[in-house]
Amino acid sequence: MSTQDTIESVRDTFRTDSKQIENDPEKFESIKIKYLGRKGLVADLFSNIPKVATDLRPKYGKDLNELKNEISSFFNNNKAQYLDTKIDSTDNSLPGPKFKIGNEHPIQKTLDEIKNIFINLGFSIAYGPEIDDDFHNFSALNFPEEHPARDMQDTFFIEEDIVLRTHTSNVQVHLMEEKDPPLRYIVPGRVYRNESISFKSYCLFHQIEGLYVDKNVSFADHKAILEYFVKKMFGLNTKMRFRPSFFPFTEPSAEVDIWSEKRGQWLEILGSGMVDPEVFKSVNIDEKIWSGFAFGLGVERICMLKYEIDDIRLLYQGDIRFLEQF
Ligand code: DAH
Repeated sequence: MSTQDTIESVRDTFRTDSKQIENDPEKFESIKIKYLGRKGLVADLFSNIPKVATDLRPKYGKDLNELKNEISSFFNNNKAQYLDTKIDSTDNSLPGPKFKIGNEHPIQKTLDEIKNIFINLGFSIAYGPEIDDDFHNFSALNFPEEHPARDMQDTFFIEEDIVLRTHTSNVQVHLMEEKDPPLRYIVPGRVYRNESISFKSYCLFHQIEGLYVDKNVSFADHKAILEYFVKKMFGLNTKMRFRPSFFPFTEPSAEVDIWSEKRGQWLEILGSGMVDPEVFKSVNIDEKIWSGFAFGLGVERICMLKYEIDDIRLLYQGDIRFLEQF
């Protein structure tokens, strides 16, 4: 067979093979390699050049280049059609599908914000038990035996003397039992109340307790710290007031309200007061040397005010459409 015949026979087989690709696109790559690969038929023909008689070489070279161009353009022109759509339509360079990783809960956001404000003021964080005895939840805090808070309607009892804490104030007692003053703590945590559930109350919620005990702590210190907190949390122009109140474990006691322009009313955000000497006595701290103040913030309250949420139950349903908004 002459060298020229060889070029033509490769052309013929290529034309048959390229028809096959139409019927079976998966052959595209293997047929391409058969002709254009490093050891393919076209490369073979090129390696034969030295064997071609000198006078025939120019024509051989020209014909061979034409063949190579014909074959290359077939594969180039049909690449999109056969490779991209028929063989594999996956584009591995595209970014992967996004999946949801959830959302920080607005209660957690509020807790963190409150914690940071007090940490910057030099408070440390402490935690205490959610299941506690009557002594820590009530008696040591100067609740009289017949106080309504001890009633079955408010408190979840586990045993006669064991309760789900109704407030984080129980940790005040633990801290003062375990550590010597000066004390400067905030205590975030869950509390439980056996209340009927509505838009404004839930059987479980969060509080942050504050306790500051040192020598010569005054009511002015207490006011200054809480005023600082309110302005940091709600903005410098927030209107606030200290309203005289009563708690068994503080004397005098005050509740703090902030003014809501939107609702046109004062809204309570925390209870507070100077630690009652009776409380110091029950934990063996000398009330003649030490004084202090305490406060209890309602986290849901603050969260609902801050993010304009009007139903506390939304915070406990885990509905992603709600949570995504924060
Ligand atoms: N424990 C109170 C409650 O749950 C809130 C409170 C009021 C805490 C005054 C305090 C305080 O530390 O001084 O309603």
